[in-house]
Amino acid sequence: MDQLNQLIDQAKKDFASCSKLAELDHIKSKFLGKSGPITEAMKSLASLSPEEKPKKGAEINQVKKQIEVLLEARKQEISNLELNEKLEKEKIDVTLPSRSKMKGSLHPVMNTIDEISTIFHGIGFDVADGPEIEDDFHNFTALNIPESHPARAMHDTFYVNKEYVLRTHTSPVQIRYMENNTPPIQIISPGRVYRVDSDATHSPMFHQVEGLVINEDVNFTNLKGVVQSFLQSFFEDENLTIRFRPSYFPFTEPSAEIDMSWNDGWLEIGGCGMVHPNVLKHVNINPEMYQGFAFGLGVERLTMLKYGINDLRHFFNHDLRFLEQFK
Ligand code: FA5
Repeated sequence: MDQLNQLIDQAKKDFASCSKLAELDHIKSKFLGKSGPITEAMKSLASLSPEEKPKKGAEINQVKKQIEVLLEARKQEISNLELNEKLEKEKIDVTLPSRSKMKGSLHPVMNTIDEISTIFHGIGFDVADGPEIEDDFHNFTALNIPESHPARAMHDTFYVNKEYVLRTHTSPVQIRYMENNTPPIQIISPGRVYRVDSDATHSPMFHQVEGLVINEDVNFTNLKGVVQSFLQSFFEDENLTIRFRPSYFPFTEPSAEIDMSWNDGWLEIGGCGMVHPNVLKHVNINPEMYQGFAFGLGVERLTMLKYGINDLRHFFNHDLRFLEQFK
């Protein structure tokens, strides 16, 4: 028993002289390991008589437990010491100024959409929405676009499968809205559209704002008035140079392109026209009773003109030096 008690004293001393957790593990095995004195003492039980065995066994266990308790206590002490040391070293200077986080801002195209929506809201237009993956019927057929129209060709349109396309314009929202609402109708619908297109004034994904007005007495002069006064508000210029150039869209008749002066020439910013009677018939609106006008404006083009940008691909290159100018 004396020998065993000495072990306790020895463990106390050894644990106390150790100041690192890793070292402590090493010392632990010296006492409690496979070839340590406790294990050895257990093994020696085999040679004792049956009467002596339980008593000696209990003594060894008692010593083992005490060593374990000592070990655990020292472990705790060393952990606290190490933690305090670490905290001491890593003092935080709360008076230091914080690292500034980069502040985000809306993309210029989103800003333009917000401005457009605010202006149209001010003259009584609601905002409508539609899916970007559109079926053939809403994107083409209901808009009086014949099977042979070039927009339906694979090289102009991203087909998802035979029936669905990434919408090529926001005009299908006209159909979806008229399917669910009756005249009078006065909406705009901003959103993303997709075409196989890419150069300084064309991007494969871009934004349009559709406009649709249906009522009993609507004419082309109303269309010109609305578009013109919108553009004057948007560009904050009463004397804007705008041109309505006769054009063709299957879903409007008559039709026009809207151009604005740009780089000593013209930049087309949208298409427009009086809603074709066939379109109204597709959504069960009587063309004898109602007429309407529609327009589709290119949001990137409007933003280019407003800020004097010459290449609309800048909007999608993710160059923060470019984007930060619009904060
Ligand atoms: C249309 O998409 C018609 N849906 C517009 C319309 C609506 C006509 C309602 C009549 C009634 P268009 O293909 O011309 O039309 O496109 C309209 C505008 O979108 C263009 O004037 C241009 O400003 C913009 N646009 C067209 N393609 C691109 C492109 N690839 N990248 C950026 N802007 C584009």
